[in-house]
Amino acid sequence: MAGRIPKDFIDQLMTRIDIVEVIQARVPLKKAGREYTACCPFHNEKSPSFTVSPTKQFYHCFGCGAHGTAISFLMDYEHMEYAEAIEALAAALSLEVPREQDAKSMPAKVKRHQDDLFSLMSQARQFFVEQLTKAPHAQHYIQQRGLNPEVVAQYQVGFAPDQFNALGVQFGQTFGQAKLLASGLQVRNEAAQVYDRFRGRLMFPIRNRKGQVIGFGGRVLGDGKPKYLNSPETELFHKGSELYGLYEARQYTRNLERLIVVEGYMDVIALAQFGITYAVATLGTATTSDHIKILFRLVPEIVFCFDGDKAGRNAAWKALETLLPHLNDGREVRFLFLPTGEDPDTQVRKVGTEAFEASIKAALPLTKFFTLGLKENLSLSPESALTTAEENVRFNQEADRLLALMPASKLKTLLVAQNQGMFRVLVEDEASKQKKNKFFKDKDDKAKSAPKATSHEVKKTPVRYAIALLLHDPTLTLWIENPERLVEWDIRGVDLLLKVVETIEENPQIHSAGLLERFRGTRYEAALMKLMAWQPVQAEQGILQREFQDCLRQIAKQARQKAIDDLLHKEQLQGLSEQEKQDLLSLLSYK
Ligand code: UTP
Ligand code: MN
Repeated sequence: MAGRIPKDFIDQLMTRIDIVEVIQARVPLKKAGREYTACCPFHNEKSPSFTVSPTKQFYHCFGCGAHGTAISFLMDYEHMEYAEAIEALAAALSLEVPREQDAKSMPAKVKRHQDDLFSLMSQARQFFVEQLTKAPHAQHYIQQRGLNPEVVAQYQVGFAPDQFNALGVQFGQTFGQAKLLASGLQVRNEAAQVYDRFRGRLMFPIRNRKGQVIGFGGRVLGDGKPKYLNSPETELFHKGSELYGLYEARQYTRNLERLIVVEGYMDVIALAQFGITYAVATLGTATTSDHIKILFRLVPEIVFCFDGDKAGRNAAWKALETLLPHLNDGREVRFLFLPTGEDPDTQVRKVGTEAFEASIKAALPLTKFFTLGLKENLSLSPESALTTAEENVRFNQEADRLLALMPASKLKTLLVAQNQGMFRVLVEDEASKQKKNKFFKDKDDKAKSAPKATSHEVKKTPVRYAIALLLHDPTLTLWIENPERLVEWDIRGVDLLLKVVETIEENPQIHSAGLLERFRGTRYEAALMKLMAWQPVQAEQGILQREFQDCLRQIAKQARQKAIDDLLHKEQLQGLSEQEKQDLLSLLSYK
C-alpha cells in the first residue's frame, strides 16, 4: 500500500493548481465578475447557481449546497478516491506525488508481505472453487437453495472441505504458517494447534474495489452454528469499510445509478440471479459512515432493505442516523421494508423480478421515514398529531438533534418545513437571532425562491465568523494579539478556531483551499466546508481586519461572561475559594 501523501505537498499543490481550469475542462464556465458560473453539475437546473471562485479556489452551488476544493470536485464529479484526485491534479502539473515512508516499517518489505497475502487469498479462493466440484453434498445444497451456475461462477462461490488442516497441507510450503495466520484463513487454539478457520462451509469470497480477494464468508451446509463465519479483521480486510458484492455490481454495470443495501450474502446473490445486479451487503455489521461514503461516491441513490419487523426498523433507524451527515442535495435515500419473515432472497423468489423492482421504486422516502421513525421512537402512533406540550418538546428536541447532523441542503429545508407545525418555535428563534448578524450575507439569501426555513442552517456566531474570515484570508491571523489566550476561552467552537489558527501559524503561506484540505477526514471537515461557503459582504482588507478583530473581542466578552456565570453558579452551590473570589472580582471589574 502506498504511503501517506505529505501535507506540505498538498498545500503546495493547492497553491499551484487553478480550480477554474480543473472544472472548466469538465463543465463549461462563464465569467461573471470576480467569479465563474455554470449550471450545477451536481443537480438538475436551468439557470446557473454553481459558482467557482478563483481567489478562494473553491466552488459552491447555492442551489444544492455542493461545495469544495478542486480535490473535492474530482472526488464528487469523477468519483475519484482522495489520493487518485491528488494524483490527477499533480499529473496535470507534471508533478510527482511524493509518499511518506513510515519510519518504523520498511515499505518494500511491507509491500511484499501484502502481495503475498493477496496471492494467498486468491489461491485459496481458487482452491475452494475446485473443492466445490469435488463435493456433491455442497453442490446439492447450492441447488437446493436455488442458485444457478452463472451466479455461482460470477460470485466465485466455493467450498472449504471439512478437514482440520486442508489449507496447511495445500499452502504451508509456499506461504508458511505465519502468512496463513495473518490472512485469517487459519487460527491457533489454546493448545497452540494451527488449523483451518473455515471447515465444511460454503465459501463466499469478499473482493475489494480492484477485485482482489480480501476475506471470506462461510456458511454451514445445514443448521449448524454459527450459521456464518466471516474472516477476522486483517491487514487486508476491514469489515466496516467493505461491502460484499460491490465489486461484482460494478462489473455488471459500468455506470450504476442506484445501489440497494441488504443484509446477507445469499440476498446479494439471489437478487443478482433475478437480474437485480446492484445489491450489496454489509458484512454482519451495522452500516457505517465509511459504507455510506463509498456508496455515495458511486451512486446518487441508495435503497436500504430491511425486515419489516421491529428489529428491522431499528436497524433502519440506525442507518438513517449514520447517513444524515452525508445527505447532500442530489442524493437520495429510501427504505424498503419487507414483509415480516422475508428477506430479499426469499422475497424475490416469491414475487419475481418485476414486483421486487417495483417495490424498490416505491420504497419509503427518507423524509417519510424520518417523521415516522421519530414518532415510533417516542412511542407515538404514526398518524397522531403532537397534542401535548411534552410531546412537542420531545419531538422537537429529537428532530433538532437529527437535523443538526445534516449539511445545509434543500432536503434539509424540506424536512424542516415538513415538521414545521412542530417546529415553529425553533425556527423563529433561529431567524430572529440571524437578523442581528450583519457581517455576512449568505449566498442562499440571494436565491429569492428559497423558503424561509433556510435560516435553520448554520447559526452565525462570532466564533464561526472568525473562522469564516480566516478561511477567506488566512493572513488575518496576524491580527490576533495573543493567540495563547484563545486556549482559555471556554466557548463552543473555539477549539476549531484555535486549530485553524495553529495550522496557519505553522504554514504561513497556506492558501484557503490548502487550509481546508488540512482538515479533510477530520470531524471538522463538514463545518469548515460550510463556513467556506459564506461570503463576506466587503472584500476590502481593512474592513475584514476590523471585522475579525471585532469577532475576537466579542468572543473574549462571551468567554468572560461564561466564566462569570460559572463562578456565580459555583458560589451558590458550594461557595468559592479565595482565588476564585479574586478571579470573579477582576472579571466583574473588566470593561
Ligand atoms: P441472516 O441470518 O439473515 O442470514 O444473516 P441470510 O443471509 O438470510 O442467510 P441464509 O439465507 O440463511 O443462508 C444476514 C447476514 O448476517 C451475517 C452474515 O453476513 C449474513 O449474510 N451473519 C449471520 C453472520 O455474520 N453470522 C451469523 O451467524 C449469521
Ligand atoms: Mn436468507
